[in-house]
Amino acid sequence: MDTVLSGIRPTGHLHLGNYYGAVRSFVKMQNEQNCYFFIADWHSLTTHPTPENIQNSTRTILAEYLACGLDPEKATIYIQSDVPETIELYLYLNMNTYIGELGRVTTFKEKARQQPDNVNAGLFTYPTLMAADILQHRAKWVPVGKDQEQNMEMARKCARRFNNIYKTELFPEPQNYYFGAEALKVPGLDGSGKMGKSDGNCIFLCDEEKVVRKKVMRAVTDNGPQTPNSEKPEVIANLFKMMSIVSSADTLRYFEEKWNDCSLRYGDMKKQLAEDMVKVLNPIRERILDFSSDTARLDKIAAEGAMKARESAAATLKEVRRTIGFRVY
Ligand code: TYM
Repeated sequence: MDTVLSGIRPTGHLHLGNYYGAVRSFVKMQNEQNCYFFIADWHSLTTHPTPENIQNSTRTILAEYLACGLDPEKATIYIQSDVPETIELYLYLNMNTYIGELGRVTTFKEKARQQPDNVNAGLFTYPTLMAADILQHRAKWVPVGKDQEQNMEMARKCARRFNNIYKTELFPEPQNYYFGAEALKVPGLDGSGKMGKSDGNCIFLCDEEKVVRKKVMRAVTDNGPQTPNSEKPEVIANLFKMMSIVSSADTLRYFEEKWNDCSLRYGDMKKQLAEDMVKVLNPIRERILDFSSDTARLDKIAAEGAMKARESAAATLKEVRRTIGFRVY
């Protein structure tokens, strides 16, 4: 059995990008592997949330994880800040990571541009904290979307470098895991490349049916196909991409043909897309309501997950301390 780990930052609600890029792989893998799924609340500190934000959004994500089908009987589900061993490993990994390579990480450069008044050291060392999350359980597989590729490259570098410096094979090099053949990037509804957390661009798993329909009907399009078999402009390609993710192969083929013979009406296509999304989301939303209403149950699941996660991380940290030359008790 391989060890699998992945995480999500608690900033708002889970959206279809999180679901298709990551969570559905978690649900599949928990039946087959030794899985750790966590909520990355330390990572969310890079944007300075308030204490209430942290508590609420962590519980929200936990309820949404469970509603998607993550099962605490099968997988270890925990909150990052409940496992202090992570921080110790983060410190060691930072000692072997160079500011040049951290400065070249695209997400860092993007964030630094977006929040020029808050380019903090935590943001800069985000990839080493992520590497610590992964390596503390010596995970072999990490289910993530396309946007995490560079962070995963850094995690592999951290593992390799530690092993080389200390002439050990303690850390396996963690590999990206994709549900299908390749990394997935779920597009946004506003014509932007990626579904993110902003409202205009995003379908949240907790969105009511009518909200989903409204958002999809408002998705950005153009004047429609003008010449047969033409290449699709990016906004339209995104709509088709979305359909390829949530709809059946037959449905996709039907609308592809309509595009190719220039008879496609975006209104029809969007109606179908919304319908297929609603089918996926309705049962999940109902379960979200159910899980969210029971905070005692959520807290118990998190506490049990923390105990299991700490046990695994402590065993790794013991080896790490011994390897580096520190005392081990
Ligand atoms: P986060 O919280 O931004 O996203 C969580 C997961 O959802 C995936 N994702 C997407 N996949 C496809 N299309 C999209 N539009 C889309 N949007 C989000 C992300 O790829 C991710 O898998 N750094 C991580 C959290 C993290 C982590 C880790 C992940 C912290 N430590 C250790 C794995 C292992 C992040 O910010 O994800």
